[in-house]
Amino acid sequence: MKIIEVKDQQAGGKAGFNIFKEALADNAQVFGLATGSTPISIYQELVASDVDFSDKISINLDEYQGLAGTHDQSYRYFMNQNLFNAKPFKESYVPNGLAENIAEETARYDNIIANHPIDLQLLGLGQNGHIGFNEPGTPFDSQTHAVDLTPSTIAANARFFANENEVPRRAISMGIGSILKSKKILLVAYGENKADAVAAMIEGPVTEDMPASALQTHADVTVIVDHAAASKIK
Ligand code: F6R
Repeated sequence: MKIIEVKDQQAGGKAGFNIFKEALADNAQVFGLATGSTPISIYQELVASDVDFSDKISINLDEYQGLAGTHDQSYRYFMNQNLFNAKPFKESYVPNGLAENIAEETARYDNIIANHPIDLQLLGLGQNGHIGFNEPGTPFDSQTHAVDLTPSTIAANARFFANENEVPRRAISMGIGSILKSKKILLVAYGENKADAVAAMIEGPVTEDMPASALQTHADVTVIVDHAAASKIK
């Protein structure tokens, strides 16, 4: 793994932006995207730039079940607000949170990924080491699947809802196997509360108890961390 340590989230946004630019120069066509607070500074850099995604494809990692794309806490809405409205892609895929038949929806999503292999996958990191909504214990060969959110993830996400009861309990997420098929992976993490997960991801044993440790098995991973998130790397 290549580690880039930066001062803060703003500097991380610039470093991440450069990796997107390099991928575009390298003819990347398909971008795997993430939501959450971490990627926002990269999206701000992309929005402020002259980058053009209008002939590119984006595929998002995950979506809550039960929320329409128009709900202001849905990941589709987040992506529209933070990137797609300013920088439209030719096609932008996000799992359908309102799909009635989840097996059909996950198969549809796997098919999309198979037909559009991801050139650059952007990831954030959960405090428990999750990537996408792949919580500890998720098999490394998992494909797109329905997920029961853990109490810690529900609590962490409650800050975006009126109260914890409104946080959806289930989501649809690309699997770890789906993520590992990407040609290049960029994982970004900021803050002291990510420091344990960052150290375990990079230096710990490769174990399904620490989903992000699966990235040690991938040939092309870049990690952007601020000093606080890097503080427990030996
Ligand atoms: C988001 C996602 C999650 C987040 C992770 C970190 O699409 O898949 O894995 O990347 O929970 O979230 P933040 O960036 O809010 O700390």
